[in-house]
Amino acid sequence: MTATVQSHGDENVVWHRHQTDKAFRAQQKKQKPCVMWFTGLSGAGKSTVAGALESRLAELGHHTYLLDGDNVRHGLCRDLGFSTEDRRENIRRIGEVAKLMADAGLIVLSAFISPHRQERQLVRDLLPEGEFLEVFVDTPLAECEKRDPKGLYKKARAGEIKQFTGIDSEYQAPDSPEIHLPAGEVSITELVELCLESLKQRHIIR
Ligand code: ADX
Repeated sequence: MTATVQSHGDENVVWHRHQTDKAFRAQQKKQKPCVMWFTGLSGAGKSTVAGALESRLAELGHHTYLLDGDNVRHGLCRDLGFSTEDRRENIRRIGEVAKLMADAGLIVLSAFISPHRQERQLVRDLLPEGEFLEVFVDTPLAECEKRDPKGLYKKARAGEIKQFTGIDSEYQAPDSPEIHLPAGEVSITELVELCLESLKQRHIIR
Protein backbone atom coordinates (compact mmCIF):
# COMPACT_ATOMS: atom_id res chain seq x y z
CA MET A 1 0.00 0.00 0.00
CA THR A 2 1.39 3.41 -0.96
CA ALA A 3 0.25 6.79 0.22
CA THR A 4 0.14 10.00 -1.78
CA VAL A 5 -1.18 13.42 -0.94
CA GLN A 6 -4.20 14.37 -3.05
CA SER A 7 -6.16 17.56 -3.15
CA HIS A 8 -8.11 17.88 0.08
CA GLY A 9 -8.71 20.82 2.39
CA ASP A 10 -6.73 19.16 5.17
CA GLU A 11 -3.11 18.37 4.25
CA ASN A 12 -3.06 15.63 6.90
CA VAL A 13 -5.68 13.61 5.04
CA VAL A 14 -3.69 11.35 2.75
CA TRP A 15 -4.94 9.13 -0.11
CA HIS A 16 -4.01 5.44 0.22
CA ARG A 17 -3.39 3.52 -2.97
CA HIS A 18 -4.26 -0.14 -2.36
CA GLN A 19 -2.76 -3.05 -4.26
CA THR A 20 -6.07 -4.63 -5.21
CA ASP A 21 -7.17 -2.00 -7.68
CA LYS A 22 -10.08 -1.23 -9.99
CA ALA A 23 -8.53 -3.00 -12.99
CA PHE A 24 -8.03 -6.17 -10.94
CA ARG A 25 -11.58 -6.12 -9.60
CA ALA A 26 -13.02 -5.53 -13.08
CA GLN A 27 -10.93 -8.31 -14.63
CA GLN A 28 -12.00 -10.67 -11.85
CA LYS A 29 -15.61 -10.02 -12.87
CA LYS A 30 -14.85 -10.23 -16.60
CA GLN A 31 -16.49 -6.91 -17.39
CA LYS A 32 -15.76 -3.24 -17.86
CA PRO A 33 -17.22 -1.16 -15.04
CA CYS A 34 -19.54 1.68 -15.93
CA VAL A 35 -22.33 3.83 -14.57
CA MET A 36 -25.59 3.70 -16.53
CA TRP A 37 -27.34 6.87 -15.45
CA PHE A 38 -31.09 6.61 -16.13
CA THR A 39 -32.74 10.02 -16.17
CA GLY A 40 -36.33 10.99 -16.92
CA LEU A 41 -39.60 12.17 -15.40
CA SER A 42 -41.28 10.47 -12.45
CA GLY A 43 -43.24 7.55 -13.89
CA ALA A 44 -41.13 7.44 -17.07
CA GLY A 45 -40.05 3.87 -16.31
CA LYS A 46 -36.46 4.44 -15.12
CA SER A 47 -36.58 1.93 -12.24
CA THR A 48 -38.58 -0.59 -14.26
CA VAL A 49 -36.16 -0.60 -17.21
CA ALA A 50 -33.08 -0.51 -14.96
CA GLY A 51 -34.46 -3.39 -12.86
CA ALA A 52 -35.29 -5.50 -15.92
CA LEU A 53 -31.86 -4.77 -17.41
CA GLU A 54 -30.20 -5.76 -14.13
CA SER A 55 -32.00 -9.13 -14.22
CA ARG A 56 -30.80 -9.77 -17.79
CA LEU A 57 -27.25 -8.80 -16.87
CA ALA A 58 -27.37 -11.18 -13.89
CA GLU A 59 -28.54 -14.00 -16.21
CA LEU A 60 -25.53 -13.25 -18.41
CA GLY A 61 -23.26 -13.61 -15.37
CA HIS A 62 -22.50 -9.93 -14.82
CA HIS A 63 -22.03 -8.14 -11.52
CA THR A 64 -24.27 -5.13 -10.98
CA TYR A 65 -25.81 -2.80 -8.44
CA LEU A 66 -29.01 -0.80 -8.86
CA LEU A 67 -29.28 2.54 -7.08
CA ASP A 68 -32.89 3.64 -7.05
CA GLY A 69 -34.22 7.13 -6.24
CA ASP A 70 -37.13 6.14 -4.07
CA ASN A 71 -35.02 3.64 -2.08
CA VAL A 72 -31.97 5.87 -1.61
CA ARG A 73 -34.24 8.59 -0.29
CA HIS A 74 -35.16 6.24 2.59
CA GLY A 75 -31.53 6.03 3.73
CA LEU A 76 -28.47 7.85 2.39
CA CYS A 77 -30.53 10.87 1.33
CA ARG A 78 -33.39 10.74 3.83
CA ASP A 79 -32.55 14.26 5.02
CA LEU A 80 -33.11 15.77 1.54
CA GLY A 81 -36.22 17.20 -0.08
CA PHE A 82 -36.93 18.42 -3.62
CA SER A 83 -35.62 21.99 -3.69
CA THR A 84 -33.01 22.70 -6.38
CA GLU A 85 -30.31 22.65 -3.71
CA ASP A 86 -31.44 19.36 -2.17
CA ARG A 87 -31.75 17.67 -5.55
CA ARG A 88 -28.20 18.82 -6.34
CA GLU A 89 -26.92 17.32 -3.08
CA ASN A 90 -28.92 14.14 -3.73
CA ILE A 91 -27.26 13.67 -7.12
CA ARG A 92 -23.81 14.61 -5.78
CA ARG A 93 -24.02 11.88 -3.11
CA ILE A 94 -25.35 9.27 -5.53
CA GLY A 95 -22.59 10.22 -7.98
CA GLU A 96 -19.91 9.60 -5.36
CA VAL A 97 -21.50 6.27 -4.38
CA ALA A 98 -21.79 5.23 -8.03
CA LYS A 99 -18.13 6.10 -8.53
CA LEU A 100 -17.12 3.87 -5.59
CA MET A 101 -19.22 1.03 -6.96
CA ALA A 102 -17.65 1.37 -10.40
CA ASP A 103 -14.29 1.32 -8.62
CA ALA A 104 -15.41 -2.00 -7.11
CA GLY A 105 -15.69 -3.27 -10.72
CA LEU A 106 -19.46 -3.21 -10.95
CA ILE A 107 -21.87 -2.20 -13.68
CA VAL A 108 -23.87 0.41 -11.78
CA LEU A 109 -27.42 1.26 -12.78
CA SER A 110 -28.82 4.41 -11.25
CA ALA A 111 -32.42 5.58 -11.59
CA PHE A 112 -33.01 9.16 -10.49
CA ILE A 113 -35.02 11.93 -12.07
CA SER A 114 -31.82 14.05 -11.92
CA PRO A 115 -33.62 16.93 -13.65
CA HIS A 116 -30.68 19.29 -14.14
CA ARG A 117 -28.01 19.01 -16.86
CA GLN A 118 -25.43 20.57 -14.57
CA GLU A 119 -25.71 17.83 -11.92
CA ARG A 120 -25.62 15.05 -14.48
CA GLN A 121 -22.50 16.67 -15.95
CA LEU A 122 -21.01 16.78 -12.45
CA VAL A 123 -21.39 13.00 -12.13
CA ARG A 124 -20.03 12.49 -15.66
CA ASP A 125 -16.96 14.50 -14.66
CA LEU A 126 -16.35 12.21 -11.65
CA LEU A 127 -15.76 9.23 -13.92
CA PRO A 128 -13.15 8.36 -16.54
CA GLU A 129 -14.03 8.98 -20.20
CA GLY A 130 -16.49 6.38 -21.49
CA GLU A 131 -17.59 5.11 -18.06
CA PHE A 132 -20.63 7.35 -17.69
CA LEU A 133 -23.52 6.39 -19.94
CA GLU A 134 -26.45 8.75 -19.82
CA VAL A 135 -29.69 6.85 -20.53
CA PHE A 136 -32.61 9.12 -21.32
CA VAL A 137 -35.87 7.36 -20.47
CA ASP A 138 -37.92 9.52 -22.79
CA THR A 139 -41.58 9.23 -21.85
CA PRO A 140 -43.66 12.34 -22.56
CA LEU A 141 -45.13 14.13 -19.55
CA ALA A 142 -48.69 13.41 -20.75
CA GLU A 143 -47.97 9.66 -20.73
CA CYS A 144 -46.29 9.77 -17.27
CA GLU A 145 -49.26 11.67 -15.94
CA LYS A 146 -51.66 9.15 -17.49
CA ARG A 147 -49.75 6.28 -15.86
CA ASP A 148 -49.37 8.11 -12.53
CA PRO A 149 -48.35 4.90 -10.73
CA LYS A 150 -48.03 6.53 -7.30
CA GLY A 151 -50.84 9.07 -7.70
CA LEU A 152 -48.28 11.89 -7.32
CA TYR A 153 -49.16 13.83 -10.49
CA LYS A 154 -52.75 14.04 -9.30
CA LYS A 155 -51.55 15.43 -5.96
CA ALA A 156 -49.16 17.84 -7.71
CA ARG A 157 -51.96 19.14 -9.98
CA ALA A 158 -54.11 19.64 -6.88
CA GLY A 159 -51.28 21.64 -5.29
CA GLU A 160 -50.78 19.06 -2.53
CA ILE A 161 -47.15 18.43 -3.60
CA LYS A 162 -44.96 21.40 -4.44
CA GLN A 163 -41.93 21.52 -6.77
CA PHE A 164 -43.03 18.39 -8.59
CA THR A 165 -40.88 17.68 -11.66
CA GLY A 166 -42.73 18.44 -14.90
CA ILE A 167 -45.50 20.35 -13.10
CA ASP A 168 -43.97 23.21 -11.15
CA SER A 169 -40.31 22.19 -11.30
CA GLU A 170 -38.22 21.99 -14.46
CA TYR A 171 -36.91 18.85 -16.19
CA GLN A 172 -34.00 19.49 -18.54
CA ALA A 173 -33.83 16.70 -21.12
CA PRO A 174 -30.35 15.44 -22.06
CA ASP A 175 -28.88 17.00 -25.24
CA SER A 176 -26.90 13.99 -26.40
CA PRO A 177 -27.45 10.95 -24.19
CA GLU A 178 -25.40 7.82 -24.93
CA ILE A 179 -28.67 5.85 -24.98
CA HIS A 180 -32.03 7.35 -25.91
CA LEU A 181 -34.98 5.14 -24.99
CA PRO A 182 -38.38 5.85 -26.60
CA ALA A 183 -40.02 4.60 -23.43
CA GLY A 184 -43.49 5.93 -24.21
CA GLU A 185 -43.82 3.75 -27.32
CA VAL A 186 -41.75 0.61 -26.89
CA SER A 187 -42.06 -2.42 -24.56
CA ILE A 188 -39.75 -2.93 -21.56
CA THR A 189 -38.25 -6.02 -23.21
CA GLU A 190 -37.31 -4.01 -26.31
CA LEU A 191 -35.89 -1.18 -24.20
CA VAL A 192 -33.71 -3.67 -22.30
CA GLU A 193 -32.49 -5.08 -25.65
CA LEU A 194 -31.53 -1.57 -26.80
CA CYS A 195 -29.47 -1.13 -23.61
CA LEU A 196 -27.78 -4.53 -24.00
CA GLU A 197 -26.88 -3.77 -27.62
CA SER A 198 -25.30 -0.49 -26.61
CA LEU A 199 -23.30 -2.18 -23.82
CA LYS A 200 -22.01 -4.76 -26.32
CA GLN A 201 -21.05 -2.10 -28.85
CA ARG A 202 -19.07 -0.34 -26.13
CA HIS A 203 -17.36 -3.62 -25.13
CA ILE A 204 -18.70 -3.30 -21.60
CA ILE A 205 -20.26 -6.75 -21.80
CA ARG A 206 -19.50 -9.66 -24.14
S1 ADX B 1 -34.24 13.84 -7.98
O1 ADX B 1 -34.94 14.96 -8.67
O2 ADX B 1 -33.55 14.29 -6.77
O3 ADX B 1 -33.34 13.11 -8.90
P1 ADX B 1 -35.29 11.30 -7.12
O4 ADX B 1 -35.14 10.47 -8.33
O5 ADX B 1 -34.26 11.14 -6.04
O6 ADX B 1 -35.42 12.85 -7.56
O7 ADX B 1 -36.71 11.03 -6.44
C1 ADX B 1 -37.85 11.06 -7.25
C2 ADX B 1 -39.02 10.30 -6.62
O8 ADX B 1 -39.46 10.96 -5.43
C3 ADX B 1 -40.22 10.31 -7.57
O9 ADX B 1 -40.27 9.14 -8.36
C4 ADX B 1 -41.41 10.39 -6.63
O10 ADX B 1 -41.83 9.11 -6.28
C5 ADX B 1 -40.89 11.06 -5.39
N1 ADX B 1 -41.21 12.51 -5.24
C6 ADX B 1 -41.76 13.05 -4.12
N2 ADX B 1 -41.86 14.39 -4.26
C7 ADX B 1 -41.39 14.72 -5.49
C8 ADX B 1 -41.23 15.96 -6.21
N3 ADX B 1 -41.60 17.13 -5.67
N4 ADX B 1 -40.69 15.92 -7.47
C9 ADX B 1 -40.33 14.73 -7.99
N5 ADX B 1 -40.44 13.55 -7.37
C10 ADX B 1 -40.98 13.52 -6.12
